[in-house]
Amino acid sequence: MKRVLFICLGNICRSPMAEAVMRDLVEKRGLTSQIKVDSAGTSNYHIGEPPHRGTKAKLQEYGISTSGMKARQLRSTDLTEFDYLVCMDDSNLQNTIEMLRAEGHAKVFRFLDLTHHKKDVPDPWYSGDFQETYDLCVEGCEALLTKIEAEL
Ligand code: 4NP
Repeated sequence: MKRVLFICLGNICRSPMAEAVMRDLVEKRGLTSQIKVDSAGTSNYHIGEPPHRGTKAKLQEYGISTSGMKARQLRSTDLTEFDYLVCMDDSNLQNTIEMLRAEGHAKVFRFLDLTHHKKDVPDPWYSGDFQETYDLCVEGCEALLTKIEAEL
């Protein structure tokens, strides 16, 4: 069993998008019993809220449900409970390392460093571009799944 936690600032735009895309890919590949997926925010801004309407609408376009998803904040036990702590941008990565005292842990990394992009996932909270978020999440999740399958 491998456990994946996607991390952004609010846990309402990018990390829930990645969580839902990853869960969908895992289901399609028949890996549900081997890979668990969750997401969290470094901030407490939106605790208990469902995904942003832009994230929800974009996922619905691709037939992916956000039912039951609720924002939560990152907690100290996440470092031991997850095998991959996947941060959407460099500021999320720095905040995660600080909050979890995770300096030097290879399991804490930036999402798109797994792809040729090697950049932040731009925040649609500011850009409004949920298509870009979705496309980058699909690319990142495919790369992450390849990595996890090799490590299962
Ligand atoms: P996220 O986007 O980190 O991708 O969920 C944001 C959501 C909320 C805020 C910022 C970014 N906010 O400032 O409330």
